[in-house]
Amino acid sequence: MAAGLVFGQSPRDANYDESKVGAYRLPNPLLMANGQTVQTAAQWRGQRRPEILRLFNNHMYGKSAPKPDRLDYEVTTRAARALDGAANRREVTIWLTGKKSGPAMRLLLYLPTNAKGPVPVFLGPNFGGNHAINADPGITIAKTWMRPGPGVEASKATAAGRGKEASRWQAEMVTKQGYALATFYYGDVFPDHKDGLADSIIPHFYRPGQTAQEPDDWNAIGAWAWGLSRALDYMEKDKDLDAKRVAVLGHSRLGKTALWAGAQDERFSIVISNDSGEGGAALSRRYFGETIERINTSFPWWFNKNYKGYNQRVDSLPFDQHMLIALVAPRPVYVASAQEDQWADPRGEFLSAKAADPVYRLLGTDGMAAKEMPAIHQPVHSTIGYHIRTGKHDVTAYDWEQFLVFGKKHWGR
Ligand code: GCU
Repeated sequence: MAAGLVFGQSPRDANYDESKVGAYRLPNPLLMANGQTVQTAAQWRGQRRPEILRLFNNHMYGKSAPKPDRLDYEVTTRAARALDGAANRREVTIWLTGKKSGPAMRLLLYLPTNAKGPVPVFLGPNFGGNHAINADPGITIAKTWMRPGPGVEASKATAAGRGKEASRWQAEMVTKQGYALATFYYGDVFPDHKDGLADSIIPHFYRPGQTAQEPDDWNAIGAWAWGLSRALDYMEKDKDLDAKRVAVLGHSRLGKTALWAGAQDERFSIVISNDSGEGGAALSRRYFGETIERINTSFPWWFNKNYKGYNQRVDSLPFDQHMLIALVAPRPVYVASAQEDQWADPRGEFLSAKAADPVYRLLGTDGMAAKEMPAIHQPVHSTIGYHIRTGKHDVTAYDWEQFLVFGKKHWGR
């Protein structure tokens, strides 16, 4: 049993044998709860899409707080030359609850110095604090407003963490291509540990008299996704950024988060999931790699309480993860897998992307061009994009090269 099991039950073991996957039937994304089949784009938009969103709200990621009425932010560092002069660095404090005494997140931005007009942006949360994404000594070391969790924030907020995640961010590659890179520390929104809720933004949005989470309330993934939308709120005010061309992306648990953010917030023009696996791009009904029971047992603070009810009845879920991808339609969505990341079920990630195709086609796009799962290093850049590369669970330069090609193709610049 993995460490961190809390429910006193033995989660179904992960399977790594294709012959044991067994048969499963995916819910039809175009079949409405009332039994009617979606025939038109208007029916998808007006009826089925909101219905699927509600299902994910109720049974999995929870209902998030709405967009706050006020947006308070302050640009703390401006026009600091970085990356050997190729980029300008900007740090922005964004207050999350409409008051400057309350919680804030710090957005770090790299902008190409030679930009003519507003630039498209790649935005994602990071694991190690903003100072981890680049060795640039000018970046403020994360000091979150939260109390450190068990070994989590405290260990990260030191100079030793500088540049530790640099290979995952490729700031130079991104800015050289004429795009901005934006990131914030995910712990600014919800500290990623079992007692993180109390120090997260969530209690700030409790209804009068509420003291605990309701079964369909949001949890860590919902909170991180909400933080991504707040970063986008800021981008709409920054004239150097093209807020109509923001790609939201994330790796692993933050890849799940990017999909959920992009599914809900249609202002994101491209959505990219890297090695997001269970609870992200991968099909839950496909019995391979991590299972719902495993993820809910190891990480009970990620999804809402109702989702725990599906630990042993995945077949009764009213959706599967292809319907999360379908919520992004018709906007471009990219799913990236890694060969050695079997825990995340690369084939299940591909099949899920493929199963969103009927919705993308109904909405007039080319959907997923590949008929079968492509071979290693044979990226597909149709409106639903996909690649699998060699190597481990990580974000690499190869992944970024594909994200940039995909962005350029679909943004037309
Ligand atoms: C664990 C977890 C995955 C998650 C990953 C990560 O492996 O089981 O679901 O994607 O952590 O976020 O790195």
